[in-house]
Amino acid sequence: MAIITNIQDLHRIYRRRVPKMFYDYAETGSWSEQTFRENSSDFEQIRLRQRIAVDMTGRSTATKMIGQDVAMPVALAPVGFTGMQSADGEIKAARAAAKFGVPFTLSTMSICSIEDVAEHTNAPFWFQVYTLKDDDFMRRLFARAKDANCSALVITVDLQVLGQRHKDLKNGLSAPPKLTMSSIANMMTKVPWGLEMLQTKRRFFGNIVGHAKGVSDGASLTSWTAEAFDHALDWDRIRELRSWWDGPVILKGILDVEDAKKALNVGADAIVVSNHGGRQLDGALSSIRMLPQIVDAVGDKIEVHFDSGIRSGQDVLKAVAMGAKGTMIGRAYIYGLGAQGEPGVSKALEVIHKELDTSMALCGHTNIEQVDRDILLVPQDFTSAWGPMAAPTPPAG
Ligand code: GLV
Repeated sequence: MAIITNIQDLHRIYRRRVPKMFYDYAETGSWSEQTFRENSSDFEQIRLRQRIAVDMTGRSTATKMIGQDVAMPVALAPVGFTGMQSADGEIKAARAAAKFGVPFTLSTMSICSIEDVAEHTNAPFWFQVYTLKDDDFMRRLFARAKDANCSALVITVDLQVLGQRHKDLKNGLSAPPKLTMSSIANMMTKVPWGLEMLQTKRRFFGNIVGHAKGVSDGASLTSWTAEAFDHALDWDRIRELRSWWDGPVILKGILDVEDAKKALNVGADAIVVSNHGGRQLDGALSSIRMLPQIVDAVGDKIEVHFDSGIRSGQDVLKAVAMGAKGTMIGRAYIYGLGAQGEPGVSKALEVIHKELDTSMALCGHTNIEQVDRDILLVPQDFTSAWGPMAAPTPPAG
């Protein structure tokens, strides 16, 4: 058996094991995928400052996110179709997260339902909602999350309309997978995945099918978002949704200082600086490039979390050093899940933890809560390279 030492190792196994339709879903960005690529490549521009001869004993990566203890500042992000990457995937990922001591976030677009995950795990998890038009469905979803003892609500605020992902349209992405000549031919090469999938009943969107009215095709993300999502969303509606939940609320999907300032007025406990893993506005700046200005603008008033582009513990360290109180990983754990199920998610968390802990030490720190921008070396124009275009100067005379 191959020795796994990094997230890329898990990615290679994941790619071999999971049907193309679901691999492509996770691995895609929208349109040209520029933002998706830059989310990672911009991390590479940031360098770390090596320090030596500092006592490295007694290190700790433990901290708090929204007041909850975490073994490291990393939560599992909500990812749609997780139960298609591996049978009962959400339950497996939630168990691995609980064992490690980090939060798991269940997506509304999950295969295992809220109730199912609650029944098969014993630590509270976070629940993610989109902003939908159907108040009845939303209220029931909130009530179901409360009954399941969810310890935070993550409201996705950057997906009123769906950024186009070419591969999903070409593959006819759906759950369960549509049976076409090419999807069948591809699935026939994924025997272990298929055998596990045949043994579970969980192959539909468990939170939606049978719960949402007027959704003509509950199997397709494209048609569901077109029909059910609230294209008229505004800050008043976000404030209203927030008031329906009496626990912590995290607003996920903020990439602009002005929006971060507006988010201060809706009563959220944290925001996630995110461009949805490069899956929404292609051409947006990477999340890590936007993080410092947002932290500087609102970081003393609200907890700022970060996602989009993290593939290593060094990336987590850089985001935390820039001022993020916590981070979320999506693809990095999905690779582990698709590759090896629950142990693969544990492996992904172990890899990231080890990289975070060791790199923190090599930067001369022993406590993640003490890490700050002092450990970073960034190009002079890292945050100022891109700005609004100046207004045209009126013609003389
Ligand atoms: C859904 O949120 C997605 O990015 O596919």
